[in-house]
Amino acid sequence: MAMLAAAPIHLDIERVLLTEAQIQQRVRELGAQLSADYAGRTLTLVGVFAGATLFLADLIRAIDPTLKVHLDVVGVSSYGAGKTSNGRPTITQMPELLMFGRDVVLVEDIIDTGTTVAFLREQFQMVFGARSVRVCALLDKQPQLCRADYLGFACDPEFVVGYGLDYAEGYRGLSYVGVLKSRVYQTA
Ligand code: PRP
Repeated sequence: MAMLAAAPIHLDIERVLLTEAQIQQRVRELGAQLSADYAGRTLTLVGVFAGATLFLADLIRAIDPTLKVHLDVVGVSSYGAGKTSNGRPTITQMPELLMFGRDVVLVEDIIDTGTTVAFLREQFQMVFGARSVRVCALLDKQPQLCRADYLGFACDPEFVVGYGLDYAEGYRGLSYVGVLKSRVYQTA
């Protein structure tokens, strides 16, 4: 069988921060950790749409298939088309599933200011009545604040895109995470 050539790095990417192989390896580890921690229980995975959808799709496949997993998404946004948070998240799409009494793992692509996960944790517990809420994030820009119960990677405070992360809705489909060239957003 012919080998597929690796896709070239996007011209707007300064450097690759996490390769596809590094991401997939870490996702497998996180899946194994979740499988052990939730063994014998029913888990509800709720991904934050749209950024976490790639991570969510890979994560559920890395979880022990004998575990029953409810899958859902919540839409929340505080960035609009810009690159800085306005600090006021709003739910733009309600989860389909009832969370009452359930063990929920909120799946995020990245934690930056922490506003989104703090807001959703509170909503899931206080409004939707989840029994427990843990956070599984691929990236955290301030990991010392311990905002994720399960964390893929610490991330320097750079503007990163790819593997679900966007800039003005671009770059989400990259299979790696890369630092965006500053000229892209400085000229926008
Ligand atoms: C991004 C990201 C997180 C959030 C993190 O979402 O996907 O949900 O920002 O930032 P915070 O920790 O400062 O709250 P965004 O609002 O850009 O929406 P998107 O997922 O649709 O890109």
